[in-house]
Amino acid sequence: MSFFSGLFRRSCPLDLRGFTDYHCHILPGVDDGIETLEESLRVLGAYEQAGIAAVWLTPHIMEDIPNTSDFLRLRFDELRQAYSGSVSLHLAAENMLDSVFQERLEKNDILTVEGDKVLVETSYFNPPIKFNETLKQVLERGFRPLLAHPERYNYINDVAYYHKLKNNGVLFQGNLMSLSGYYGPAVKQKAMYLLKNGLYDYFGSDLHDISHIDVIKQMQLRKPEYNAFVSVLNFQI
Ligand SMILES: [Fe+2]
Repeated sequence: MSFFSGLFRRSCPLDLRGFTDYHCHILPGVDDGIETLEESLRVLGAYEQAGIAAVWLTPHIMEDIPNTSDFLRLRFDELRQAYSGSVSLHLAAENMLDSVFQERLEKNDILTVEGDKVLVETSYFNPPIKFNETLKQVLERGFRPLLAHPERYNYINDVAYYHKLKNNGVLFQGNLMSLSGYYGPAVKQKAMYLLKNGLYDYFGSDLHDISHIDVIKQMQLRKPEYNAFVSVLNFQI
C-alpha cells in the first residue's frame, strides 16, 4: 500500500459520546417515524450505548401531519415518564414551510430548539413560493431558521444558493447519514461540500426507523472530514 493510498484509506468511526442529536422522529406515534413507545425506548437505549447525551425530538408539522403543540407536549410527557435513562430529552418540531407554518408563526405557536431556533424543511423538489419572505419573517420575529438537511434538496445544485442562505442568517442542520452516502452520491457530495466549507452548524440523525442506528454506528469518515465534523460539534459546545 502506497503512502497516498494509506492516507486515503485512513478513516475514523464516528464517536458520538456527548453528541446532541438535533433532529429525529423518535417521539412515538405522531408522524412517519417511530410508531410505538416500546420502540422509542429501544432507540433511546441504543443512544445510551453510543454515549449520546441529548436528543431533540422533532416531529413533523405540516399540512399532511397537522400536529398541534399541545398534542406533541402530551406525547412528550408520556415518553418522559416512561424513560428513566441518561439521554436528556427535549421537544421541538420539524416545520414544513407551508400554510400551517404561516398560521403557527402568526400565532407565535412555535416549538423551538434551544429557545430561538426553528427547525424548518421544504419539499425536496421545489422551494416554497415565498421562501425568502418566510425566512425573513422568521428572523423578524426573533427566531433563527435552522434548515433541516440542506444537502437533501434536489432543487439546490449551485453552491452559491447555500452561501446566499447562510448570508441571510439561515443555520444548517446536516443529517449524519448524508455523510455516509445513505441518500445517494449526489446528496453525499453536497454534504461533503457543506462539511468541508464549514457551512454546517448542527447535526442530527433524522432517525425515522430503528435500523438507522446501525447505519450511523457503522459510519466512518476519512480523517479530514472527521476533523471537520468534530469542529462542528465543538462549535456547538
Ligand atoms: Fe426529519
